Amino acid sequence: MTSRPVDQVLAAVDSGLDQSLERLFALLRIPSVSTDSAYAAHCVAAAEWLAADLAAMGFTAEARATGGHPAVVAKSPGNGGPHALFYGHYDVQPVDPLDLWETPPFEPRIATAPDGSKRIVARGASDDKGQVMTFVEACRAWKAVTGTLPLGITMLIEGEEESGSKHLFDFVRANKADLAADIALVCDTGMWDREIPAITTSLRGIVVDEFKVVAANRDLHSGVYGGAAANPIHMLAKAIASIHGADGRIAIPGFYDGVEDLPPDVLADWKGLNLRAEEFLGAVGLKHPIGEKDRLLIEMVTSRPTCDINGIWGGYTGEGSKTVIPSEAWAKVTFRLVGKQDPVKVREAFRAHIRAQLPADCRAEFFGSRGSAAIALPWDMPVLAKARAALTDEWGRKAVTIGTGGSIPIVGAFKEDLGLDTLLVGFGLEDDRVHSPNEKYDLTSFHKGIRSWVRIIDALAG
Ligand code: BES
Ligand code: ZN
Repeated sequence: MTSRPVDQVLAAVDSGLDQSLERLFALLRIPSVSTDSAYAAHCVAAAEWLAADLAAMGFTAEARATGGHPAVVAKSPGNGGPHALFYGHYDVQPVDPLDLWETPPFEPRIATAPDGSKRIVARGASDDKGQVMTFVEACRAWKAVTGTLPLGITMLIEGEEESGSKHLFDFVRANKADLAADIALVCDTGMWDREIPAITTSLRGIVVDEFKVVAANRDLHSGVYGGAAANPIHMLAKAIASIHGADGRIAIPGFYDGVEDLPPDVLADWKGLNLRAEEFLGAVGLKHPIGEKDRLLIEMVTSRPTCDINGIWGGYTGEGSKTVIPSEAWAKVTFRLVGKQDPVKVREAFRAHIRAQLPADCRAEFFGSRGSAAIALPWDMPVLAKARAALTDEWGRKAVTIGTGGSIPIVGAFKEDLGLDTLLVGFGLEDDRVHSPNEKYDLTSFHKGIRSWVRIIDALAG
């Protein structure tokens, strides 16, 4: 009996895993940090590496200018069937604090976990180079075994996701015809746990802002002026402390406009998933959720909006002490949005709130970039059932549909500009340390991730 093509492709994935890993390692060695301009040339190098690799597989591929870091666009035409637009990102988050990495972040290695399982350790191993390469390797295996892909595929792999996809929105709008497809596929999310695969159907939106509080026109001697002159660090701290109330809610007027409660059946489903603080927070050395008092933990991290200060600085932070009242204090802040919250309105409400907290002698200046609204995908997308069956075949456990608290800004534009729903399937795990030192991707995530895409491609074509 001859085996089905998909089985031959799966066998090729298994026998070619070492080479797949070598290619991933080559990409992981390129320090493509998007937010820091010192790494711009490395972002170009990562884009060119991907374009060359995809061209070698027979895609028409190039690294295209966006006004920021280049985006890779690669195409393999279909044979009249459905066409998929695959999206991922080759950029990574900054690596600091560097001294907390056990080995250098851009020298990928395979480590053995205490339970004997293997993991790939490097910045970007999980978010998102490892995940992007699960899809690329699945396509490679299809091409190697059958000479073609059963599905028309366009890949869009960008280099600014981790800094808000600043230039990609215009790029998508300007290249609608080139990016036309029937469905978008994204590999940048996680599994429910190490055994249960997941399809993500909601993403939180995001507002990113940065501000400084300015007081005196220069730094002052705290002995001469202390007691009289406004200290901008104190004022910034007070303003930040006023964002959350004692009940865990955000006290900015109008902030909750557009936030909706979950439908009762979804809430009941999520209760059943039983996300427990002892495990979820216990794994990072915490115990007590600090969100809204009347909410489930899973709501706090998925369907409720948040505000986090991501960085704060000002004054003297060098060795020893300096008796100074600084003239400025700074903070970086992000809001996660849900439902119909409007990013522009949230940003303006936040700025008005901060200004209202400051005394007459202090002023605030803001330096934000564009935000993106939350995404909720239709639970009845026809591709959902196909992807669920393919994932269930691979993992031997029924794939669940979940929401994630993270953000992938461009997904909204796929709907608005290209008219596409998005299938979000990823193999990240909670302990992957994404955005943290010692980021990792389980070898199983990589291997079974490739196999999962082989099956999903087959299912979507069929
Ligand atoms: N891969 C993440 C999004 C994500 C995080 C999905 C956790 C599922 C679980 C993505 O690369 C990311 O980190 N996005 C940024 C976007 C921001 C910088 C605009 C985020 O969510 O912080
Ligand atoms: Zn990512």
